[in-house]
Amino acid sequence: MPTGYDVQALRAREYPWAARGDAIHLDHASIGVIPQRSRDALAEYNDKRAEMHAMRAEDFFPRLDRARALIAQLLGASAEEIALTTSTSWGINLAAYALPLGPGDLVLGSEGEFPANVYPWMSASKARGFSYELIPMIGRMVDQATILHRIATDLRVKGVALSWVSFWTGERIDLDAIGSACRARGIWFAVDAIQGLGPCTLDLSRTPVDIVSGGAQKWLCSPWGAAFAYVRGDLIAQLEPPAAGWLSQASAGDFSRFLDYDPAWRSDAQRFEVGSLPIQDFVGMNATLELLLELGPAHIERHVASLVERLITGLAARPDLELYTPRDPTRRAAIVAVRTPDVAADSQRLRAANIVHAVREGAIRLAPHFHNTADDIDRALALLA
Ligand SMILES: Cc1ncc(COP(=O)(O)O)c(C=O)c1O
Repeated sequence: MPTGYDVQALRAREYPWAARGDAIHLDHASIGVIPQRSRDALAEYNDKRAEMHAMRAEDFFPRLDRARALIAQLLGASAEEIALTTSTSWGINLAAYALPLGPGDLVLGSEGEFPANVYPWMSASKARGFSYELIPMIGRMVDQATILHRIATDLRVKGVALSWVSFWTGERIDLDAIGSACRARGIWFAVDAIQGLGPCTLDLSRTPVDIVSGGAQKWLCSPWGAAFAYVRGDLIAQLEPPAAGWLSQASAGDFSRFLDYDPAWRSDAQRFEVGSLPIQDFVGMNATLELLLELGPAHIERHVASLVERLITGLAARPDLELYTPRDPTRRAAIVAVRTPDVAADSQRLRAANIVHAVREGAIRLAPHFHNTADDIDRALALLA
């Protein structure tokens, strides 16, 4: 299937260590690998930062403005709907503490969620008096039918908080179906998108979600510390920020009246930003996002889907392997999890061949991305055969 870009040329330019054959990185679900242009951008920025006199006005807030604009472009949102954060967890806490929820209200999650999308809801439900319920899985899959049924029939349900893609099975939930059901009832839908965005496309101008939280350290191949929260435009003014600081106020950016203490919040999603952000991490992120947008998110999605299909077909041919990941392409993203008869030995064999991967919940987790090749997949398959 044509992918729209030359992966070998991309790899030679952006991942010289991979082109040399030093390692095969199939672990983007843990940590993404930073392309050469982002390494260069980081080095250049850090050099300037060490010699402050070299920095110019455009090296401060405009770098963050650029980060919001790029994230917005990737999400089909507007820059005014993006708050920069330092972790996915921050945006999830924002949803749990700022959405209008209180005693008598119920938020639904699912068992099998990554803990980052559970603890904030547990904690906020205790502090704010709402209830939080984890819907049991069917086997290892999110029980979307029950969640949809509860949304439609249980009037206590005022919010749903789910991960787009499961960190350990790779299952992708149907954001459109759940988002539309929430919208029809006028209830909140908060999504942790970290395991989906990058290899999968998301268009929030069509998919109804209220708050999306993500980090760029995995599938957006960026430094730790670069993360974001999307808050739907017409919701922003309704949400009282759970934390305040000099940059969350309408006066932010006006260096001539620090002492006015004007309590008015900013009108855009920056009201959810509090203080100084790790600009260098966003500089690195900006360079990677420019690369992803140049290649084309839809092209990347097609390329990754073809790698995942190849991997799943190869694994499914072996009857002694148990795939945790759904076979249906619409129900998976770029994470493939497989339980082999001897996970420890197989993981060791992959590691010895410098194939970077993870073991999660008793399965080997392989997570290829836009720079991986069919040959990378075949090498991993050969070692698992
Ligand atoms: C679903 C999910 N959410 C969140 C995170 C990480 O959150 P944070 O960016 O806050 O470290 C992970 C990391 O493994 C994850 O898989």
